[in-house]
Amino acid sequence: MKIKSVFAREIIDSRGNPTIEVDIKTESGGFGRASSPSGASRGLHEAVELRDGGPRFHGKGVLKAVENVNKIIGPAIYDMEASPQEDVDQMMIELDGTKNKEKLGGNAVVAVSMANLKAAASTRKMALYDFMGGEKLPIPLLNIINGGKHAGNGLSIQEFMVIPAKTECFSDGLRAACEIYKTLNEKLVKKYGRTSRNVGDEGGFAPPMSRSSEALDAISESIEECGYSRIVGIGMDAAASSFYRESDGKYFMDGNYLERGQLIDYYGGLLEQYPIYSIEDPLFEEDFEGFAEFTEKFGNKIQVVGDDLVVTNAERVQKAVEMKAMNALLLKVNQIGTVTEARKAAQIATDAGMQVVVSHRSGETEDTFISDLAVGMGATQIKSGAPARGERTAKYNRLLRIEEKLGKHYSQVW
Ligand code: PGA
Ligand code: ZN
Repeated sequence: MKIKSVFAREIIDSRGNPTIEVDIKTESGGFGRASSPSGASRGLHEAVELRDGGPRFHGKGVLKAVENVNKIIGPAIYDMEASPQEDVDQMMIELDGTKNKEKLGGNAVVAVSMANLKAAASTRKMALYDFMGGEKLPIPLLNIINGGKHAGNGLSIQEFMVIPAKTECFSDGLRAACEIYKTLNEKLVKKYGRTSRNVGDEGGFAPPMSRSSEALDAISESIEECGYSRIVGIGMDAAASSFYRESDGKYFMDGNYLERGQLIDYYGGLLEQYPIYSIEDPLFEEDFEGFAEFTEKFGNKIQVVGDDLVVTNAERVQKAVEMKAMNALLLKVNQIGTVTEARKAAQIATDAGMQVVVSHRSGETEDTFISDLAVGMGATQIKSGAPARGERTAKYNRLLRIEEKLGKHYSQVW
């Protein structure tokens, strides 16, 4: 299945920013199309997103990245076999030659990597999840109240999610989340007025709240009212780097500046009050020791997810394993740049007994690659925002179609 055509173009993402889309064709009629998502609360150690600068799109154009695909990567992988994926990814890693893909652009490389995997599956006339050997549906983590860098309210914590972990199957879980989302909507309008129907970047409501407990009260009440208390839990992504103050090492939370230890105790208080199953990035992205302390304290009770801490980077995941700094990995292919490197990071985590949560970014396209990837990799969870906004629902709807084919095999974690 030789690669016979590689073509990149500039499209727009869910925030109206340009991003790169790549089409790959193989000689035997295979076709793969994929596009790069883009984060707002990006980790310090992520692969570089190449942006043009200048007046076009306020500097966010990606024509340089497009050119890198059409003039450099495309000719280099032309006539290579689309499978194994490792060879194509390795070629791009060598062509780029930097640690953070700054030469060709992580956005250029990741779009080619994903499009190539799709083209390989298509050449075999197989769905991507099936080509990768997937058998089970992941548990969705749906972000229904947005804060932090994803919303214009006063919430420090970026994401408040529902986790329908104990429903019979994925489709029942999605239904439960939708019912809770609608109940929450009514509750928020009653309490905070109609502006609370506004949604943030990931489709969760962005009510004018400033304390985490307000969000957690509203969500836990909605879960209860819908009759899902025993089967649906709550997840949070603190994305703590975004409320960490480097000058004195303090965290801004609920109107106060807290030391690391105080913040850990603060989370401990929340864990006692609410049915929380999972916390992501509770501390800032360089604090492996703090994460280890947090995991030691709460890791037997809840899932501790590393996102900005490890940025899907095998070396950083290895360090987190050695330091026992988390018990689950958030996997975003565009943080590292290729499917192969992301899978390597996931392998290290899984070998150490950790969970893997495949994730979207806050800036997304309609591409449903991550749905197939989650199933194909056997990841037990997927994070793709609220059951709202087309770029989010596209992923969940793709999983409904996969469930139709695979049957109701649902991952079990909690
Ligand atoms: P981002 O946030 O896509 O804006 O980086 C998502 C996350 O932190 O999980
Ligand atoms: Zn995160």
